[in-house]
Amino acid sequence: MPPTPAAPAVRFDKVSKVFRTPRGELKALDGVSFDIAKGEFFGLLGPNGAGKTTLISVLAGLARASGGRVTVMGHDVVADYAAARMSLGIVPQELVFDPFFSVRETLRNQSGYFGVKNNEAWIDELLAALGLADKAGANMRQLSGGMKRRVLVAQALVHRPPVIVLDEPTAGVDVELRQTLWQFISRLNREGHTVLLTTHYLEEAEALCGRIAMLKQGRVVALDRTSALLAGRASTMLRFKTDGALPPAIAAQARVTGRIVQAKARDAAEVESLLATLRTAGVKVEDLEIGRADLEDVFLEIMQEGAHA
Ligand SMILES: Nc1ncnc2c1ncn2[C@@H]1O[C@H](COP(=O)(O)OP(=O)(O)OP(=O)(O)O)[C@@H](O)[C@H]1O
Ligand SMILES: [Mg+2]
Repeated sequence: MPPTPAAPAVRFDKVSKVFRTPRGELKALDGVSFDIAKGEFFGLLGPNGAGKTTLISVLAGLARASGGRVTVMGHDVVADYAAARMSLGIVPQELVFDPFFSVRETLRNQSGYFGVKNNEAWIDELLAALGLADKAGANMRQLSGGMKRRVLVAQALVHRPPVIVLDEPTAGVDVELRQTLWQFISRLNREGHTVLLTTHYLEEAEALCGRIAMLKQGRVVALDRTSALLAGRASTMLRFKTDGALPPAIAAQARVTGRIVQAKARDAAEVESLLATLRTAGVKVEDLEIGRADLEDVFLEIMQEGAHA
């Protein structure tokens, strides 16, 4: 079937995936439906085991859905596999590569796989953009973990796919490369490429993604514009450091990271009451800040709601 011009970049339509394991059936995806429009920078978030990589595997044609349908640029990923695959550039979560090839050979091989000829100029651009120019001749097994991940990114892009899928591309990647990578991916997005990103770095998702879907136990539990997700829930956050034990009423709802405590307050009155509770309990508070909730706060709230449901 020819793709329709109006087709979204990606369409997930009631996608389910059941894994049969020795301990019974595991429903990794349970009726996932959403569209990603052409040109979007879309975030797919969720805790470990939520089903993000499974959904991407189905999209990539690496796993077969147990039910439902997926299209890429209008091409069904099963019935029209070749066209769908050609439209996708996938940076996998796992580092998989052939240790016997150099970086440049790896990229040439991948170009060949997609039938792209005379690709040297683009390969050079990818190498330069990802800080790999001086490693072009190095053997894959001589590279550090972060450099291998850069090669995986370059490899996903050799055929200039309209849809770029990144499954935790910044896991184990240093700050400098993260910046370089996001500049480059943002440029491609501005030039019209659609981007689907999964990450556990919610600051990245907040900064980059126009829309976000949150998965939990194989279901979409939130789907909205990033700004709407933040505005719909974000309340005031009180952040401070302390060595003291928190009063139970605050401990029950606060997010604690080492010495840093973040507690939610709907308005100024709640801020005052939180501070009063801390003072009464004799908890010494340092570096107090009051700010808006961020995507991490929203994420935790949504995941907790899911747990109660
Ligand atoms: N091949 C498989 N066989 C059996 N179960 C699987 C298989 N692949 C994934 N699962 C299970 O499916 C669920 C979803 O896994 P998935 O890898 O999609 O999660 P994820 O959201 O990508 O998590 P993470 O953030 O850790 O990468 C998990 O419970 C996982 O154990
Ligand atoms: Mg995963």
